Amino acid sequence: MSGTDIQVSGLAKRFAGVDAVTDVTFSARPGRVTGFLGPNGAGKSTTLRMLLGLTRPDAGTALIGGAWYRDLEEPSSTVGAVLDIAAAHPAMTARGHLRTYCALGGHEPANAARVAELTGISAYLDRRVGSFSTGMRQRLSLATALLGDPDVLVLDEPSNGLDPAGIVWLRTFLREFAAGDRTVLLSSHVLTELQHGVDDLVLIDRGHVAWEGSLAEFTAHGTSLEEAFLRLTSETASHTAPGAPGTTHAERAHA
Ligand SMILES: Nc1ncnc2c1ncn2[C@@H]1O[C@H](COP(=O)(O)OP(=O)(O)OP(=O)(O)O)[C@@H](O)[C@H]1O
Ligand SMILES: [Mg+2]
Repeated sequence: MSGTDIQVSGLAKRFAGVDAVTDVTFSARPGRVTGFLGPNGAGKSTTLRMLLGLTRPDAGTALIGGAWYRDLEEPSSTVGAVLDIAAAHPAMTARGHLRTYCALGGHEPANAARVAELTGISAYLDRRVGSFSTGMRQRLSLATALLGDPDVLVLDEPSNGLDPAGIVWLRTFLREFAAGDRTVLLSSHVLTELQHGVDDLVLIDRGHVAWEGSLAEFTAHGTSLEEAFLRLTSETASHTAPGAPGTTHAERAHA
């Protein structure tokens, strides 16, 4: 199995007077969990939306397995995404919601029970989504993303609303998912959420990638994660990689 990667290059997006994303280049590889980390407003959601064909880039490319999202032959079997947990209709049962998305994606109805099992919501299938807690909604959104048994998962702040046990559960789930030569890209603005669960880190700050590399590399020079994160994302940051003054990893990659 060769796996399906994510390749983002020179991505840019400007909204009326706001440079949301100025130059974002990174990749996420099969078999690895990649954390997309950056402060509020850094451009994470805008980047993920461009990757998933929901926002049109002004410049650059965002490819999944070498193709734009819009050109994927079987989008929901290639990439599952959770960007917005408010998408489920409150009057529907979880089973009804999942069956609807099965039909939309052309998947077997039996997949609804399979993904409910995977995400631990089997006991809640006949409850209305409107009665779900935020954490249950997160699980339902993830279940929806898994309906097509995709090779790639893209999750925007998936830990929001999850309790500590839920966060540990998600981390374990994503690790096992990636172990099957599959690709996981998840965003967060909370460093501590990613420090245990990811293999690679892409640091985004004010619309551009400030650092990219393995988590091990990030802390290889005796710098604490928090220190490195603050240094790379603060207003006065010189945008140097931890312990490697001069150029960032991303700049070295482009040199
Ligand atoms: N539709 C839009 N119209 C105008 N400005 C936007 C739009 N979407 C995003 N922005 C702006 O672009 C910048 C990046 O926003 P984005 O939502 O991508 O950041 P983020 O990293 O996801 O932040 P957060 O951690 O708060 O979710 C912000 O300044 C935001 O206000
Ligand atoms: Mg966001």
